[in-house]
Amino acid sequence: MIIGRKNYLTIFVKLIVLFFAINASAEEIHHSHSPFKSIDEYIQRMESPDRVEWQKPEKVVDYLAIKNGDTVADIGAGSGYFTVILSRRIGDSGKVYVVDIEKGMIEYIEKRAQKEGLNNMNYILAKPDDPLLPKSSVDLIFICDTYHHIEKRDSYLKILKDVLKKDGRLVIVDFHAVNTPVGPPLSMRIPKEKTVKEILSAGFKAEAEYFFLPYQYFFIFSK
Ligand SMILES: C[S@@+](CC[C@H](N)C(=O)[O-])C[C@H]1O[C@@H](n2cnc3c(N)ncnc32)[C@H](O)[C@@H]1O
Repeated sequence: MIIGRKNYLTIFVKLIVLFFAINASAEEIHHSHSPFKSIDEYIQRMESPDRVEWQKPEKVVDYLAIKNGDTVADIGAGSGYFTVILSRRIGDSGKVYVVDIEKGMIEYIEKRAQKEGLNNMNYILAKPDDPLLPKSSVDLIFICDTYHHIEKRDSYLKILKDVLKKDGRLVIVDFHAVNTPVGPPLSMRIPKEKTVKEILSAGFKAEAEYFFLPYQYFFIFSK
């Protein structure tokens, strides 16, 4: 079969289009619910020693004003970076719901909690559009660097409202939509104003905003 010059050109253009389509979808998979190729590598990144400098986890948890005996849900708990601090702060009479959609993350935190003698954890392998938490059961929902992973946020926020107790609070920490030395790609980030608008539209009330994190916004909303 003889292929003419024009046909060569058409095939070449099609190959280029195919190349970009494959790349785009690989990027999408890479950055959708599983923003990692290997869980170990992702855990290492979340637990990186320099994170403490910019994440200030103990200070963040101080500002949550949680009490001994509270029930807290860490949605998108990851490696347990915040979960273990939350767990210690609320003590054995409290309860931490450890929520993630990745089995490997839940298993990692389970082992970590065992090693660290933390006995107030309740593990939930959630669905991307539902944390599977019991209704009216939680004093504080904590979501750090995970809000931007949630796709159907309007229906998800309605679920979160139902999950909170009457005086319950929702905490969002996530990356500003500008270039920062760490954090997800810009294309995945949700600007602070958009996040606030979505959460207020779901019927939450703004309670506080803190400005001490260099790369992230930090909000507390009440039900
Ligand atoms: C960037 S990590 C943040 C982990 C942790 N919050 C921290 O600050 O270190 C995002 C985590 O959210 C989880 N995740 C993604 N989409 C989710 C969803 N819809 N519901 C619950 N967890 C989700 C991922 O599996 C991952 O463990």
